[in-house]
Amino acid sequence: MSSRIDRRTALARCAQVASAGTASVWAPGKIARAQGATPISVRVLLDEPIGRIKPALYGQFTEHIGGVIYDGIWVGPDSKVPNIDGIRKSIVEHVRRLGKIVIRWPGGCFADSYNWRDGIGPRNKRPRRFGRWQEDTESNQFGTHEFLKFCRLCGAEPYLAANVGTGTAEQFQHWVEYCNAPAGATSLADERVANGDPEPFRVRYWGVGNESWGCGGKFTPEDYCTQYRRFTEWLPGYGVPHYLIASGPNGNDLDWTRRFFKKWTDYARAPLQGWAAHYYCGTTGHALNFTRDQWYEMLEKANRMERLIDDQWAVMGEFDRARKVKLLIDEWGCWHPKGTELNPHHLFEQKSCLRDALCAALTLDTFNRHANKIDMANVAQLVNNIHTLFHADGDKFVATPNFYVFEMYRPHHDAQAVRMDVQGPSISFQANGPQKIFRVAGSASQVDRRVTVTLVHTHASEPAEVSLALRGGSADRVQQTALTHKTLSAHNTFENPHEVVPQTSSTAYRGASFTCILPPASVTRLDIALA
Ligand code: AHR
Repeated sequence: MSSRIDRRTALARCAQVASAGTASVWAPGKIARAQGATPISVRVLLDEPIGRIKPALYGQFTEHIGGVIYDGIWVGPDSKVPNIDGIRKSIVEHVRRLGKIVIRWPGGCFADSYNWRDGIGPRNKRPRRFGRWQEDTESNQFGTHEFLKFCRLCGAEPYLAANVGTGTAEQFQHWVEYCNAPAGATSLADERVANGDPEPFRVRYWGVGNESWGCGGKFTPEDYCTQYRRFTEWLPGYGVPHYLIASGPNGNDLDWTRRFFKKWTDYARAPLQGWAAHYYCGTTGHALNFTRDQWYEMLEKANRMERLIDDQWAVMGEFDRARKVKLLIDEWGCWHPKGTELNPHHLFEQKSCLRDALCAALTLDTFNRHANKIDMANVAQLVNNIHTLFHADGDKFVATPNFYVFEMYRPHHDAQAVRMDVQGPSISFQANGPQKIFRVAGSASQVDRRVTVTLVHTHASEPAEVSLALRGGSADRVQQTALTHKTLSAHNTFENPHEVVPQTSSTAYRGASFTCILPPASVTRLDIALA
């Protein structure tokens, strides 16, 4: 059954959604501005599956840098901050809400000078080292056992990055053995048992270096490929099917990819499952202080992820015709200039506002749309850092709008991504000349009779009227959740932690097609129960 509701009704319902929470969300007074808005058509093609959306696409990254580990995650068992064996309780409780994601550690650039042996054994005997990022002591209080415990508490899967920069293949192989060999099988396994963990950690994801074109050793792609082969060619599995990850390009650098894969194809074909690119979409203006053009410019830069995926995938396919190697984006996010740190010691800490939340949402939608190509992605970084989900400082803790986007997108986990077609006008803006960005983009997925549609609406001030059609199904019930704010730079603070949070409301939408209203500058999720 198809039922179209008229615009006035839709607007009124949208107002209900928008005003359900704090008064600061999209104000009903602005509804009239939707009148005459150019309609946007969204077709959800339930009969065109793309691939399973792995929860790993919603992964996180945690590095020994600034306040990510120390303060963010690790407060120590003697801290007054509520903790579980030294791990901040509030972060565990929040990360659990993100589903069965993957968390990458210990870097980043830090990984390529890290000796894993420094971080095991009694904590009061661990060596203190020079911190990689700041002229600060690395206390090694947080090491392999602490990280694995953090993952277990969060219900997340670990992803460890090995040191290729200053480490050896042997050290890497020993780390794998220490983590995964069964108790009693080897001396390293017994050392793990003595350090408190009788059961093997069964770590599946192993990264071989980080940014090997840069801080990870400034290799040429060919030289890195030789190192990669040395590190991985003979690696015992201890009953764990390894997922080995090579250090991919800086952004969409096709030369790095082509030259690595050429060498890999020509002489090695060492075991390789994942090719990890990093893409930071840089900044436009200050984290919180930006013009309307810079709002659009940032979103447009985030949207370049799509091109990166398509281009990298095409080059990988020139060498890996069987498509055994998948793409990973194990660092991504908007990286703004200094000036909004909550704690001066938290290197690269930046406030994340509504603009970053939309960048996160459109990036996650991009991953969903390419679910057949990408196996994992890790936003940089979980707490007190670049495109961060949380800020923590002593006993204070707050979730940023990015966290709420990740939580909103959770129904996509393990669902089948289906193709979505969006037709509508674009928005013009100025950034070194005239540019354009889409007005609405998103992704869709299905599990059983449940369809999830997520939509990013970029327009800074006008609502959008979306005609949504389901091909291959009909809606029985629809719930709408929206994250938005009347101020583009709105963000959550320790004092006001719920300034930007999603609002949910039931709707009367029904049938194979219906019209819904998206607030300006918003992320929307439609939970559709099929008839
Ligand atoms: O995320 C911060 C740093 O950015 C990482 O250590 C490095 O891999 C990247 O350049």
